[in-house]
Amino acid sequence: MKTFILNGSPRYHGNTADLLDHFISYLSEEYKLIRVYDSNLMPCMDCRYCQTHDGCAIPDEMKFYYRDVIEADNIVLASPLYFDELTGALLNFCSRFQYFYQRRATSSLYQGKKKKGFLLLTGGGSSSSVHHAEETAKLIFSMLHAELVGTAYSLSTDTLPAKEDAFALESVKALALEANKD
Ligand SMILES: Cc1cc2nc3c(=O)[nH]c(=O)nc-3n(C[C@H](O)[C@H](O)[C@H](O)COP(=O)(O)O)c2cc1C
Repeated sequence: MKTFILNGSPRYHGNTADLLDHFISYLSEEYKLIRVYDSNLMPCMDCRYCQTHDGCAIPDEMKFYYRDVIEADNIVLASPLYFDELTGALLNFCSRFQYFYQRRATSSLYQGKKKKGFLLLTGGGSSSSVHHAEETAKLIFSMLHAELVGTAYSLSTDTLPAKEDAFALESVKALALEANKD
């Protein structure tokens, strides 16, 4: 049971990282966690190379992440809400999954087995909504042959830090236990 996790927050010890720590503490099998702000990957340039080649024209470590995605059972997207969306850095990273979008037409082998998708979100203000971020995450998951299983969120971090948000922590735990199931 492999879980591939992307953290879209720039903050090492922020609210999103706290939710992820909690999620990971309940995982029973191996996982890989990527902080997208630490990766110096270029976003997709829409060069269309992957329409005719098996790979991306940009020569960087994304090729290893493609392999991780193919082998994963679970995909986790974790992000603060920025303008009610996933962060731009996370979207830039995920734009490189265009490779899978192109490959999907030719072979399901490129996406591996059907995967579970999990979404963890944090937001500072009480008027925030997860709707836009959730719809975007569903699009990303569909490129990766994953389906959104559930979203856990802590949406008042300005006044209640995620690590003290009992409801959020309980939801995160429930998702992790779901990720452990076959
Ligand atoms: C540029 C920017 C845009 C933001 N937009 C929103 C927003 O639309 N809704 C919201 O609830 N919080 C918004 N926030 C607040 C963050 O989502 C919130 O502080 C979050 O908990 C930070 O997570 P982190 O500590 O993991 O980085 C925004 C913060 C920044 C820096």
